[in-house]
Amino acid sequence: MNEVSINPSTLKGRDFLTLLDFTPDEVQYLLSKAVELKAAQKQGIGKLELAGKSLGMIFENASTRTRVSFEVGMTQLGGHALFLSPRDLQIGRGEPVKDTANVLSRYVDAIMIRTNSHETVQELAEYAAVPVINALTDAFHPCQALADLLTIQEQKGELQGKKLVYFGDGNNVAHSLLIAGAKTGMDVTVASPVGYEVDPSIFNLAVEAAKETGATLTLSSDPKAAAKGADVIYTDVWASMGYEQEQQEREKALFPYQVNDELVSQAASDFIFLHCLPAHRGEEVTASVIDGTRSFVYDQAENRLHVQKAVLVSLIGS
Ligand code: CP
Ligand code: NVA
Repeated sequence: MNEVSINPSTLKGRDFLTLLDFTPDEVQYLLSKAVELKAAQKQGIGKLELAGKSLGMIFENASTRTRVSFEVGMTQLGGHALFLSPRDLQIGRGEPVKDTANVLSRYVDAIMIRTNSHETVQELAEYAAVPVINALTDAFHPCQALADLLTIQEQKGELQGKKLVYFGDGNNVAHSLLIAGAKTGMDVTVASPVGYEVDPSIFNLAVEAAKETGATLTLSSDPKAAAKGADVIYTDVWASMGYEQEQQEREKALFPYQVNDELVSQAASDFIFLHCLPAHRGEEVTASVIDGTRSFVYDQAENRLHVQKAVLVSLIGS
């Protein structure tokens, strides 16, 4: 693992909206902090670094991993997490984001939000006096990408120069993988059918960030060629939250991008398979791959806990 030298106090009070807002050294620092916290938890010597602190968690969409890992993470650090659904919050009845941000800031030490619109998260961050953490929007999923980096680092020893290929539509997870790869010097390819490519403006931002690390970012519409020599094969559901009504047309367009035994035979012999989960076996990935020996999806899910604890300690720890 790389030696990182940043002053950790530079992370205090910051928002965590996308990894674009963090330097390569800061990303490496968060990863090294996650490694430290994971080891401490496994040895039973974790410290209550967030004793007395509270995290408000606004979920406008379903979640298994994000909700449980943030809530358990706060508990393990000696703090407390509140699950806030729009069904219960006044925001669900039209209270402005501005008022919600201001009021919650008087009670909690950080706000985590999962919502469709990235603009809502930006607005919340603009008005909140406490750090806001993006727990998935239609554009980004930075907590996931940080957990993905940790998982790749654990399995491959390092990130620099490793080849990751993502198969699927250019969604939130694809965007955050491009940015994460850019920040860590990886070689990231997103293979998507025509009409389902990544957002060009986000791709351009990632390409700009890649200049700092020597990362290479590529878009492809040839899944077999893209898979050649991959160290990491990654996929995600064909219809993300909010796009369920497009399921049928997406199945047709994305079927050639299914991660199956034939596709992974193109990858490096020691490739690893990752998926942010939830997965649909028989759609974006076959059971033979996701349940096979090269799959590390449960380690990846576990790592959400460790990286988010690193983010929380870095943003709101004393
Ligand atoms: N990967 C992920 O964010 O999972 P959840 O939707 O279950 O939180
Ligand atoms: N792209 C998926 C990720 C789920 C964690 C979605 O947005 O539904």
